[in-house]
Amino acid sequence: MYNSKITGLGYYVPDNVVTNDDLKQWMDTSDEWIQERTGIKERRWIDPKSGDTTAVMGAKASKIAIERAGLTKDDIDFIIFATLSPDMYFPGGGVQIQDMLDMPTIGALDIRNQCSGFIYSLSVADQFIKTGMYKNILVIGSENHSGGLEKSTRGRGVTVIFGDGAGAAVLSRSEEAGKGILSTHLHSEGKHAEELALMGPSTGRWVPEIMEANDPDDVSYYPHMNGQFVFKHAVTRFSEAIVEGLQANNLEKSDIDMLIPHQANLRIAQFIQKKFQLTDDKVYNNIMKYGNTTAASVIIALTEAWEQDKIKENDLVVLAAFGSGFTWGSVVIRW
Ligand code: UT7
Repeated sequence: MYNSKITGLGYYVPDNVVTNDDLKQWMDTSDEWIQERTGIKERRWIDPKSGDTTAVMGAKASKIAIERAGLTKDDIDFIIFATLSPDMYFPGGGVQIQDMLDMPTIGALDIRNQCSGFIYSLSVADQFIKTGMYKNILVIGSENHSGGLEKSTRGRGVTVIFGDGAGAAVLSRSEEAGKGILSTHLHSEGKHAEELALMGPSTGRWVPEIMEANDPDDVSYYPHMNGQFVFKHAVTRFSEAIVEGLQANNLEKSDIDMLIPHQANLRIAQFIQKKFQLTDDKVYNNIMKYGNTTAASVIIALTEAWEQDKIKENDLVVLAAFGSGFTWGSVVIRW
């Protein structure tokens, strides 16, 4: 068995900054409400004229990650792409990225696990590398939320939270024992699927009937979230996933050098930080400037933390996420 190691990291966010005050042009909200409940100050939303899409942003982040890995596009053996906001209903965005980066006809797998998408993707990539099937896998998370949010007072409970962006990692084969991804842990609880969901564009709702009704008040085309219910489950499941990762490797919470929690709500991250008695330098948050970028959030945060030299050789890095599905999980890495 081989080990798998992150050898390249990259991220891309659109230039267009949308502050909390900017949102007031569409809805009844306030900077105070948003900051107090979520910690968010601003987010990036794609300028529709920019040409950025979920796949385009994913490709931009990928180029940076591949270059930083010291590789070229031809060295990549496989693509794993996570998003809840694909450019097309089908096919998935993985094949678009294969084409945009002019890669050989390698396989491209799409992962549908929302906020846990990057954690699930890393786990799948880890298995392919450990078994020797592939040497270098491009793992991407990208979201264009702004193209699908309800920008009105009716939608404010969800809309103010989400931002656009993409991140990518190259996971490579390594023969260094005890380094790289130590373990991954994945969970789901589908009975809560509708607590955070977008029901509209689905065959489950009989497309011809929806087209016939042509109802402008059909909110099923916008994401729905039972915020407080999701919040309560998030704090519990985040903690469980981190504990599970530590126990699997005979580690203690004091061994954590850097925790990268999915950026769902600063209050959730602060609760986890307190619970695990971690000092500020051991938890990386950037929700203040990007909002919740779902499948991109963990990888953007990991990349920024690494760029800022907050992650050093041999550090114990824990990634954890929770979200729609419900799905949740963790990844434990010896850097
Ligand atoms: O990434 C996937 C996982 N997602 C999460 O983990 C998110 C978890 N949930 C949350 O972060 C929080 O529940 C939210 C930030 C989404 C909402 O915060 P909350 O404290 O649960 O607020 P609420 O939904 O209970 O709404 C409280 C009040 C309501 O007014 P009334 O009924 O008390 O008069 C809302 O209508 O705040 C109102 N409200 C707003 N007011 C101003 C909701 N959204 C807004 C808004 N601006 N944007």
